[in-house]
Amino acid sequence: MIVEYSSPNIAKPFTIGHLRSTIIGDVIANMLQVTGHDVKRDNHVGDWGTQFGKLIYAIQEWGSLEEIESSPRPVKVLVELYVQFHEAADKNPELENHAREKFKLLESGDEDTRALWNKCVDWSWKEFGYIYSKLGITFTENNGRGYGESFFEKNLQTVLEELSSKNLLKQSEGAQIVEFEDEKYPPLMIAKSDGASLYATRDLATDKFRLSTYGNDISIINEVGSEQTLYFRQLYEVERLLGWFQPTQRTHVGHGLYRFKDQKMSTRKGNTIWLEDVIAEAEARASKLGNDTSAASQIAIASLKWNDLKHSPQQDVIFDWDQILNMEGNSGPYMLYTVVRANSVLAKAGETQSQNGGAAPLSGEDRDLVRFISKFPEVVLQATNQYLPSTLTTYLFQLAQQYNVFYQSSPILKADENTKILRVMITAATAQVLKSGLKLLGIQTVEKM
Ligand code: ARG
Repeated sequence: MIVEYSSPNIAKPFTIGHLRSTIIGDVIANMLQVTGHDVKRDNHVGDWGTQFGKLIYAIQEWGSLEEIESSPRPVKVLVELYVQFHEAADKNPELENHAREKFKLLESGDEDTRALWNKCVDWSWKEFGYIYSKLGITFTENNGRGYGESFFEKNLQTVLEELSSKNLLKQSEGAQIVEFEDEKYPPLMIAKSDGASLYATRDLATDKFRLSTYGNDISIINEVGSEQTLYFRQLYEVERLLGWFQPTQRTHVGHGLYRFKDQKMSTRKGNTIWLEDVIAEAEARASKLGNDTSAASQIAIASLKWNDLKHSPQQDVIFDWDQILNMEGNSGPYMLYTVVRANSVLAKAGETQSQNGGAAPLSGEDRDLVRFISKFPEVVLQATNQYLPSTLTTYLFQLAQQYNVFYQSSPILKADENTKILRVMITAATAQVLKSGLKLLGIQTVEKM
């Protein structure tokens, strides 16, 4: 199983959409892995395309390498230069031609242009690396960076040849397209009239490469925003027509948008929301819950992840700080706190000694809770098969609630010795399931809160 997620773009902001893809894709990969699949984690970084011609022109014309190099946020500087290009090109359309020339140089392997592009890649990875390490995200492919689109430049010709040998390519006003039976989808463009390759062509080359690297029985999951749903339908249909895949081998897991409740964030609508700022804000708010900095950082990340994963991917997510960090509700802090509580019961219980015959027999709430705990494996399988992390979060939240009710209504350490043994065991099982579940969700638990 190849799970492809995150897939941000070089020299562009890491968006909230990429954040969702990163969080959800990671969980899908974790769940597949734990249910026995051989999982590869890939990141289809957008590091190629004609926009790099514009960027390179702008850097050479108006930028300063030293300034970008020494900036703590190099991507911000690159984005400003890119915006500057568009403003200038509005007044002077001639610049578009210069940009095209630059992209040609890049494609043909011109050394200086390549070197500058490489720098852009590294500057962006400074930011991505920071975000991935905060979120605890890793990839297995291409030394941990994933295969970016540029990696497939050299394979595009083979793809075009295969498409044309299978009679799938049509000429249309100089461009090459694939048309679909009964026009069930709009045609997919494979090459532009100037011969330049496209996003779709690079995706086809990517999947061809995966087939030849890992064999014909792979399945591929693309975790990408729902705005690309039509595109992935077209892509999968072309791959079926090529005879590469059965429909069940290709899955698009789409996700909805974040809606910002916070005034400060919504007035910036249209502007970029920088993920570093979101993480920093979450950390600042988590530290107000009275935690040391390292725990605050873990609570912050848990809060952001839980807020996303408690919804099904297709749903939009309301981004409301009060809800995200609410200790009482369906939130990351609530989940972490329940684990801390269960652990402290276990620490206080120490080694429990069985008196004549061991734990008391199961009945009442004890039995209900044990029954619910025992559903965990089934829930994980179900969540995995549906690619629905929210099936797991819903279950874990219910378990936490049930445990907290149990904790409040049933004496544990003060019960008679055999009931105490039973309830300590139930507490240990709850803690174990919550921890395993949270781990699958990419959420680390904390010692204290
Ligand atoms: N880089 C793209 C974007 O930001 C997402 C890539 C998704 N994956 C793919 N195989 N096309 O929109």
